[in-house]
Amino acid sequence: MTRANASDLWWKSAIVYCLDVETFLDWNGDGVGDLDGLIERIDYLAGIGVSCLWLMPFQPSPNRDDGYDVSDYYAIDDRLGTLGDLVVLLRTAKDRGLRVIIDLVVNHTSDQHPWFRSARRSPSSPFHDYYVWRDEEPKTKKADLVFPDAEDSIWCYDERAKKWYLHHFYRHQPDLNIANPAVREEIQRIVGFWLELGVDGFRVDAVPYLVEETGLDPHMLFKELRSFVTRRRGDAVLLGEVNLPAKPLATYFGDEPGDQLQLLFCFPLMQAMYLALARKDARPIVRSLRSLPDVPTEGQWAHFVRNHDELTLDQLTDKQREEVFAAFGPDPDMQLFGRGLRRRLPSMLDGDERRIRLVYSLLLTLPGTPVLFYGEEIGMAENLDIDGRMSVRTPMQWTDQRNGGFSPARPSRLVRPLPEGRFGSMAVNVAAQRRDPDSLLNWFERMIRRRREIPEIGMGRLAMVETGDHAVLAHCVELDGVSIVAVHNLSDEPRTVRLQLGDTTGCELTDLLDGDEVQTLEREKLDLKLDGYGYRWFRLQPEDAPTAP
Ligand code: GLC
Repeated sequence: MTRANASDLWWKSAIVYCLDVETFLDWNGDGVGDLDGLIERIDYLAGIGVSCLWLMPFQPSPNRDDGYDVSDYYAIDDRLGTLGDLVVLLRTAKDRGLRVIIDLVVNHTSDQHPWFRSARRSPSSPFHDYYVWRDEEPKTKKADLVFPDAEDSIWCYDERAKKWYLHHFYRHQPDLNIANPAVREEIQRIVGFWLELGVDGFRVDAVPYLVEETGLDPHMLFKELRSFVTRRRGDAVLLGEVNLPAKPLATYFGDEPGDQLQLLFCFPLMQAMYLALARKDARPIVRSLRSLPDVPTEGQWAHFVRNHDELTLDQLTDKQREEVFAAFGPDPDMQLFGRGLRRRLPSMLDGDERRIRLVYSLLLTLPGTPVLFYGEEIGMAENLDIDGRMSVRTPMQWTDQRNGGFSPARPSRLVRPLPEGRFGSMAVNVAAQRRDPDSLLNWFERMIRRRREIPEIGMGRLAMVETGDHAVLAHCVELDGVSIVAVHNLSDEPRTVRLQLGDTTGCELTDLLDGDEVQTLEREKLDLKLDGYGYRWFRLQPEDAPTAP
């Protein structure tokens, strides 16, 4: 792998930004965000420096799972706009150098989808075998339940069909029968349609569930899908939502050079990071990083701090999860499904901006592709008055005006209420932060610009660096003879550490952030002072190489 591949394998040095059109900006004043609103704010997004947008589902849907229950794969929810608007959006984004990927939700459809309506009517319907039916109710293991608050079985009896159908998620989301070649063909048609309109790839929803109970080999399915996608659009990407431990997770990259999903969300590391933050001890991160299998040439980890779902901690032990709950969400109302937290980072960290910056600095230096969730760049928090997972999906806070500048509609008409108080739009909004050079927003812009100048982080090889202090994490990513060293102090106390960098003869060290002077670099050791929650990024390169500006 060299820097020369950086533009072919664009996903290896991308910065992804996830947003829901519905909650971003309401342009027509009906209380719901829309494509016109998003088009309006494309320059804002390009200005932050993100390079790829991930749009949450925007297709027609009864909206019983916030659009993750699609009733028509070939159209746009008419509250949000039209296919014509989407094409304008894609074109505008492209013009500003932004790629766009969209959610591909094909583990299940809505029960309102015409396929399911027909399927339940009669076993002779051509769509009956699009779903997974049983004559007797199979047993459900507790671990199979994704939403234990709402469902006690993953099988539901259908009065019309007089059979049980499979639904890993809510009962109104019947699972598609992927083992049926006709269903796989439908998926290709859907994928082909959106690629033709100009999207750059897909975030594949609920990957491990796609094949369960159907008897199909998951790897065959993704090889087939990937080869179809690549035939249609060589550089389109598949980003998988696969919440599994590191080893089984990595099998979804496929064989060298990576013939299945190019990007996989790194759930194990994300969970370890929260444990490390709670303990102010870097070792869970070190262990997790060490346990990650190597990625194939075209593969890449996608790292994230928060997403639109609950912060799942299902890969931690019960005791570890309790530690994270105690530190970041002690109130039962902050917890969900017994496994996660329905909060965003700033409120979990009690608004401590030093610590918030530490976490995102770490995110931006992890070997992989960072994925941000809208509003993280200004430090938005959740609204716990909203039920369940929707607490973190509140409207974007643009100004301190009515509805945070999201919509001119009456507040009662808003798609979701904004939070109030300390993290409300009076205190946290884009407009105010744009004017303040020290704001989180301006910090993000500077950090993202720097990160984009360092493709080594997305493409190089990781090595851990000894610091002699459990609170301080140091790691190094090497590519083409250049090493990037990142140091993060998880404790609130200042620390002095001695990094063991190996042989650095003939090397020059550049501070990549504030340019502060480096104490000493004597052969293989670097002595370093860090503030409480401090972080430093360095480039170590041969003395005669051009230095970073
Ligand atoms: C994924 C989505 C989640 C959705 C579920 C069912 O886990 O992230 O929001 O509810 O799939 O589609």
